Amino acid sequence: MSRAARATREPAVEFRPCREGDLDGIVAIERATFPEPWTRSQFAALLAHPAGFGWVAEVVPRGVVGYAFGWVAADEAELADLAVQGDVRGRGLGRGLVDAFAREAGVRGARRLYLEVRASNIVAQQFYDRLGFDTVGRRAAYYRHPREDALVMRAELPLAVDRPRTAG
Ligand SMILES: CC(C)(COP(=O)(O)OP(=O)(O)OC[C@H]1O[C@@H](n2cnc3c(N)ncnc32)[C@H](O)[C@@H]1OP(=O)(O)O)[C@@H](O)C(=O)NCCC(=O)NCCS
Repeated sequence: MSRAARATREPAVEFRPCREGDLDGIVAIERATFPEPWTRSQFAALLAHPAGFGWVAEVVPRGVVGYAFGWVAADEAELADLAVQGDVRGRGLGRGLVDAFAREAGVRGARRLYLEVRASNIVAQQFYDRLGFDTVGRRAAYYRHPREDALVMRAELPLAVDRPRTAG
């Protein structure tokens, strides 16, 4: 099938700031994705905090299929939670979410974006590497259930997300 034909069959994705009404769908994806899922009240508290914000990827009429949450403190941003629903991974949604999150972080004054990732989560590390993040540290036993180190990754803002696929 040609790219054009596939495009007409694939539903459009919208990236937009998270709203309170998105949280039920987000929590369902969160529980299906992580061994230590955030609770609904954790997401709500972050959204209610002046420094916190989140972006979602929505497919109409299906609903939210991915999200990115975090905060900005002074000139540093933290990407604290990112997930894309399993059946729509590999289609650029994760990249779009990090891009949208990083743009808002930049508008809020951040010059660097940090995150932690499980040492065993090679898929996510390769994903962040493609978006221009470098590994800058390691936090011993950062995660529980299962207990595991975190790698600390960092990118300068604005992100170099528009690199061609053949680059690097
Ligand atoms: C990590 C995650 C968010 C990526 O989302 P995604 O929508 O599948 O990623 P994208 O389609 O936007 O991919 C962007 C880039 O990452 C790379 N990438 C994505 N999945 C990859 C994989 N399985 N292996 C290697 N590279 C991968 C792609 O090659 C792509 O680069 P390219 O466009 O230059 O080819 C998704 O896999 C996920 O939700 N994982 C479970 C939750 C998780 O691990 N979150 C991060 C916790 S720190």
